[in-house]
Amino acid sequence: MYAPALDGEFARDVCAGLQRSPLKTLPCRYFYDDLGSVLFDAITRLPEYGLSRSDARILESSARAMVDALPPDLAVAELGSGTGAKTRLLLEELRRRERVVYYPIDVSEQALQQCAQELGPLGDVYPLRMSYLEGMRAVAGRRAPGQTLLVLFLGSTIGNFESDAAIDFLYAIRTSLEPGDALLLGTDLVKDERLMLAAYDDPTGVTAAFNLNLLGRINRELDADFDLRQFEHHARYRADAQRIEMRLRSKTHQKVTVRGAGLIVDFARGEEILTEVCHKFRPEQICGMARAAGYRLEAQWTDQAWPFAESLLAAV
Ligand SMILES: C[S@@+](CC[C@H](N)C(=O)[O-])C[C@H]1O[C@@H](n2cnc3c(N)ncnc32)[C@H](O)[C@@H]1O
Repeated sequence: MYAPALDGEFARDVCAGLQRSPLKTLPCRYFYDDLGSVLFDAITRLPEYGLSRSDARILESSARAMVDALPPDLAVAELGSGTGAKTRLLLEELRRRERVVYYPIDVSEQALQQCAQELGPLGDVYPLRMSYLEGMRAVAGRRAPGQTLLVLFLGSTIGNFESDAAIDFLYAIRTSLEPGDALLLGTDLVKDERLMLAAYDDPTGVTAAFNLNLLGRINRELDADFDLRQFEHHARYRADAQRIEMRLRSKTHQKVTVRGAGLIVDFARGEEILTEVCHKFRPEQICGMARAAGYRLEAQWTDQAWPFAESLLAAV
């Protein structure tokens, strides 16, 4: 498995984010160390986190139609595969037609190992421990002549980008594709606000643990002294931006030292760190976003029990 050298990138990002004003931020990709990946897996099993089950239901009922919409000799790449639990549904269908070639791309070693172990028996599985774009370039470089690429971006992870950045990101993915390649994009749809909020603020406290683990990771890897009991998880829905925001709120006035980043940072009582945004979409927005990034909407499958859409986009 390829392992990237992080070269102080974590320290630099933490340093920049915690000095940002008026709102401190931390990039959500750092949630996923070994513990964070296990906690995310637990989140997907929570009764409140309907979007994972909805995504899986669509894949289960429509995998045949998805495979049939694509030409033979396919290589499948997945951005932020995690453990690939839902992907199995698609790969099993593909295996009925041809040998599976699958490149899971993820920054989490723990998740990739589990993915390779569980999906390895389905075909040729090549885990790439890389960031999304680095992984896409690696996959494009390995493409066999005549092969078509299908890129999966499931679980509404696209919602973690700011709106303009989402289009830029899809466009950047497009630059590694050729006309006729495809992107299967999972997006959580706007729904009742209470349902959306509960998915990020479960009563069991798993999402809170996932969020707080980001500070725990900074303690472990950057020799910091965050007192996790002095911060609390907070989720809110901002209707104006159509997004959930996850934040960590300081319960008291406190000073934190991050030795590995050469930083001492003050928190006022009630001050927050923005740790993740999760945009929710309307079906017509998906089409507009795809078009702006160089794709054509080929097909869309939705789930009504928990409104969610799976869109098949063709690179044009
Ligand atoms: C929200 S989880 C989704 C996992 C899975 N696709 C699903 O639908 O359940 C996001 C996944 O993307 C990975 N990830 C986050 N940022 C990443 C980045 N910049 N490059 C590669 N992987 C990333 C995380 O490790 C995690 O496994």
